[in-house]
Amino acid sequence: MAQIDWDSLGFDAYRTRTVVLAHYKDGAWGKIETTETFSFTFDPFAQGLHYAISCFEGLKAFHQKNGDIIMFRPDRNAARLQRTAAFLGLPAPSEEMFIEMCKLCVKNNLEFLPPYGHQASMYLRPLLFAPHPQMQLVPYPEVFFAVMCAPAGSYYGAHLRSAAAVIPGDYDRAAPKGTGSYKLSANYAGTFVPYQIAHQQGYAELLYLNSATREFVDEFGSSNFFGIKGNSYVTPLSDSVLPSITNMTLQEVAADFGMKVEKRPVPLEELSEFSETGGCGPAVVITPISHIDMKPVLSGNEVSRTFRYLPDGEVGPACTKLYKRITGIQFGELEDTHGWCYKI
Ligand code: PLP
Ligand code: COI
Repeated sequence: MAQIDWDSLGFDAYRTRTVVLAHYKDGAWGKIETTETFSFTFDPFAQGLHYAISCFEGLKAFHQKNGDIIMFRPDRNAARLQRTAAFLGLPAPSEEMFIEMCKLCVKNNLEFLPPYGHQASMYLRPLLFAPHPQMQLVPYPEVFFAVMCAPAGSYYGAHLRSAAAVIPGDYDRAAPKGTGSYKLSANYAGTFVPYQIAHQQGYAELLYLNSATREFVDEFGSSNFFGIKGNSYVTPLSDSVLPSITNMTLQEVAADFGMKVEKRPVPLEELSEFSETGGCGPAVVITPISHIDMKPVLSGNEVSRTFRYLPDGEVGPACTKLYKRITGIQFGELEDTHGWCYKI
């Protein structure tokens, strides 16, 4: 039995018991396997290594109050993986296969699933990787599909505590008509150094603007953006933002609360009109933002604007309400009226 302090879990690559694997080659999927070997071997010319022909998903499994184990909206992740794989010219698992492998990963690693009552869950990380050795810049239909998992607590070190964000004037995330709306591994590569610089300066998050004009809000490096304005839940409509399942869920939750949902371009200036802002995604859940600084040069000292919402660490009423509703449904404390929870 794993000895885990469920209350102090962060968000880390964790060595659990098994990884679930399938290999697509010569037009068909091989059989689904589970392995306890936490290392894969690839040809040094693998496309995934040289050309970042690799993409992934992120979703969570929960131990609910009544003892049930569920995954949250895995059908949506399956569909998004198919869309991303098509963008890369790769085959993808069917929804059925995706869900079966995710289920198997949870079942095979049950001792790593946090028990109910610790605000912790199991993060599932499905990965689609192109192993074919190739120099030419054309797709080749061979992939490894692996599902790993890790017990997960809070991404930023505390639950429902506001964090500071920075808009980096000298870094962009995604080009128009580029890769931003796909969950490509490559999209994250360009965020590592700006995150490092931001963290050194005390910012937890990077907020990216649209790269074409830098006049609109796109999203955070790890999550989608939302703002609260009066009784409205406002979130960016942009071609270069990842279509977040958590955000989609929050839009439905906000509508259930009688809020108006506005999915539209969000001008930078509007940041001064929100009463609360936050990030949302499986890793960050809902993370309220205390303030957003704009810096012309991320590593420099100049801050050109500050948008302040809350004293650092504090949380506003709308984020609290949204957080309680979504986590309440995930942990089985509130009724799942939309049918989002898939029982394992
Ligand atoms: N945006 C980015 C850049 C992300 O990495 C994530 C995390 O998955 C999200 C948004 C949230 O998406 P979802 O809620 O669908 O997982
Ligand atoms: C997730 O929330 O599932 C993610 O993929 C975010 C991660 C890149 C930090």
